[in-house]
Amino acid sequence: MLDPASERDEIADVLCVDGRIEAVGAELDGRGAEIFDAEGQWVAPGFVDLHCHLREPGQEYKEDIASGGRAAVAGGFTTVACMANTDPVNDDPATTDFILDRARNDSPARVYPVAAATKGLEGKVMTEMSALLNAGAVAFSDDGRTIMDSGVMRRVLEYSRLVDVPIIVHCEDRTLVGDGVLNEGAISTRLGLPGNPAIAEEVHVSRDIKLAELTGARLHVAHVSTAGGVEEVRRARERGISVTAEVTPHHLTLTDEAALGYDTSTKVAPPLRSAADVAACRAGLVDGSIDAIATDHAPHAQHEKEQQFTEAPHGMLGFETAAAVSLDLVRRAELSPLEWVRRLSLNPARILRRPGGSLVPGEPADVVVIDPEKRWVYDTAKGHSKSRNSPWAGQELTGRVTATFVEGKLVFHVDRGVLAP
Ligand code: DOR
Repeated sequence: MLDPASERDEIADVLCVDGRIEAVGAELDGRGAEIFDAEGQWVAPGFVDLHCHLREPGQEYKEDIASGGRAAVAGGFTTVACMANTDPVNDDPATTDFILDRARNDSPARVYPVAAATKGLEGKVMTEMSALLNAGAVAFSDDGRTIMDSGVMRRVLEYSRLVDVPIIVHCEDRTLVGDGVLNEGAISTRLGLPGNPAIAEEVHVSRDIKLAELTGARLHVAHVSTAGGVEEVRRARERGISVTAEVTPHHLTLTDEAALGYDTSTKVAPPLRSAADVAACRAGLVDGSIDAIATDHAPHAQHEKEQQFTEAPHGMLGFETAAAVSLDLVRRAELSPLEWVRRLSLNPARILRRPGGSLVPGEPADVVVIDPEKRWVYDTAKGHSKSRNSPWAGQELTGRVTATFVEGKLVFHVDRGVLAP
């Protein structure tokens, strides 16, 4: 049992009653309880994903809340926060309400909508934050787009402070990105593809940190990908500025070399970077400068990805591979199993100030079981997402989520598939 909230890493039983953790300890009396044997495996709080794209409403051919929710629990995520770049954009309470309604009926995972920070994600006019919060939004973000207008960004942060929610920022200066589709460097030159420079991220992390300092808002930097970005966050935290950050499994493990075969599943925003950037992201996650691992699960249809690299949309699937891929940090002894769990569950739950990430009695019985040694082949055709855009498709991975429980109910089992709803 690995529980970052109580700092426990021990062999124990976990007793769940009426959807909550009742007790954790050796040889509990579970008389009358249904027994799930997890011997030899890790039992941990369900993962909480701060960042995914469920595509509903509007792009259900890529994913919907039902398929995304199934893929989430198959990857061990009991809670996911979905970004606002749907169609229509989640910038009004009716859309937030629709997402929550769908989630209640269709998704085995809890779904928290992240509403847009500006109307239509256009970076011009702020959304009505209070109304969106009342409808159930948990944070605001124009993810996928950077708010380029610093005056608008300042007002967004000022208002978010009044309502006390995080602003999640996608930091890529669009004027510096230009047409860039791959990290600017030797690989982009070799492939003849326009480069997206690291400085595009760094200047915006730096700007947003300055504005967070000015306003006192809670800034959360999405998918940090550069050494400079990590360093900006680290220094800001040392100065006591309220900034948190996440990194994706792909930015922790893949470099721009993955694009050498022009595989469009490696095209993401921000792009895969250099080995030095990957090392810096890993170091940042280990030393606590970066709080959480978030998937940026971004499904796209095959016909969209089967285009020239410059034309294909950005994004890759994340839910079902996140555990196996990020376990690389445990295998290389950069993170202990307990610290790895913390970054996938407790830390993201704390950023959202929502329950989760804890096996302390009284908490929701959202639980994941992981076999860290299990080898398996990721067959996207058998995956739960509607899309298949993963650079790990067809590859053998080590470490697998074998069961997921939401409120004490088994919703995924590795041999039986997704069981609910
Ligand atoms: O790779 C990405 N895909 N990055 C983003 O910021 C947006 C996302 C998407 O919506 O496909």
